[in-house]
Amino acid sequence: MRIAVPSETQGNETRVAATPDTVKRLIGMGADFVVQSRAGLSSGITDSEFETAGAKIASSAADTVRDADVVLQVRRPVADALHGVKPGAIVLAVMDPYGNEAELQKLADAKVSAFAMEFMPRITRAQSMDVLSSQANLAGYRAVVDGAAEYGRALPMMMTAAGTVPAARIFIMGVGVAGLQAIATARRMGGVVTATDVRPATKEQVESLGAKFLAVEDEEFQQAQTAGGYAKEMSKEYQAKQAELTASHIAKQDIVITTALIPGRPAPKLISADMVKSMRPGSVIVDLAVERGGNCELAKPGEVFVTGNGVKIVGHLNVPGRLAATASSLYAKNLFAFLETMIDTEKKELAVNWDDELVTATLLTRDGAVVHPNFQPKS
Ligand code: NAI
Repeated sequence: MRIAVPSETQGNETRVAATPDTVKRLIGMGADFVVQSRAGLSSGITDSEFETAGAKIASSAADTVRDADVVLQVRRPVADALHGVKPGAIVLAVMDPYGNEAELQKLADAKVSAFAMEFMPRITRAQSMDVLSSQANLAGYRAVVDGAAEYGRALPMMMTAAGTVPAARIFIMGVGVAGLQAIATARRMGGVVTATDVRPATKEQVESLGAKFLAVEDEEFQQAQTAGGYAKEMSKEYQAKQAELTASHIAKQDIVITTALIPGRPAPKLISADMVKSMRPGSVIVDLAVERGGNCELAKPGEVFVTGNGVKIVGHLNVPGRLAATASSLYAKNLFAFLETMIDTEKKELAVNWDDELVTATLLTRDGAVVHPNFQPKS
């Protein structure tokens, strides 16, 4: 059982899909490991650390994946980069398949079994494999750190001989995994924290973290959570009420962090250009939804800029990658936890249960075909 970890090639990715710890554990389960030289460097892992854990180091991507039974990646590999793997090799990555159907077909043509880690069901058994949660949690933390770094004032209240510094007011919009960690981090850093969401379950979560909850709590709000635990897209009427409620609040904030997402839809627009105009010079907006269209009308993907009225808008891409070492260690553990379920530890070989719900939910391609139900031709 040969496991390959090629360097990431897409989107300036800083993370890596294995760590010395996961390498050691999988070798203990009977694997041979090949890691591409320098694959871990931007996560602070050297080739010699991978070697000490038992991996071989290969100098090229082709040498890394040759005869591999399993390929571990952060982002979807291009199919050409998989040339030389064993037929039927397992590829685990964040596959981002929507809108990339042609790439998906190429993975099928490469005869690999490609699994989309982001499709992992959010059930108890799969919690340790949930890459969306492990990475969103870090993004929420990093958003506050980035916001604090861009803000030209201190966050906690300080009473000094030279005068009193007021605590920063920090507003978190969207209280999923990222938002909850943002609240906890902002509180630890001494901010006065408020938060909003459209799902009623979040009210208690916000309050239990010591922050104040602010939302339009009408009938639509009571119905806003889907059975899967996600938010619905709200009606125009609700959005107008929400904007009215949050507009005056946003004007008084020092840092606003937005994390609101709706599955399968563009991110909801929560901060209009007028709201940005109402904020004080020196205040900061960090838009974590910028890759999905942004929660702030003015946010630009990959850019940090100052508006005409002195508000800084932060739109970093791949925020978990800004904490590459931690993000890699959690991501690698997520992959390990899933791969472990596909290994027969006695025989020390791969033994995938193709009927397991974790497999059927995440498997995109197998035996030369795209097999996931979401990507079948419409009849
Ligand atoms: P997400 O990333 O899809 O969305 C982030 C947040 O934005 C959500 O809380 C959503 O309600 C909020 N939002 C959407 N539209 C909004 C609007 N117009 N205004 C304000 N906020 C808006 O959500 P995430 O982080 O993936 O979490 C979704 C759910 O899944 C949560 O209930 C979470 O607790 C649950 N979850 C369950 C897990 C498990 O059972 N294993 C693991 C992780 C999350």
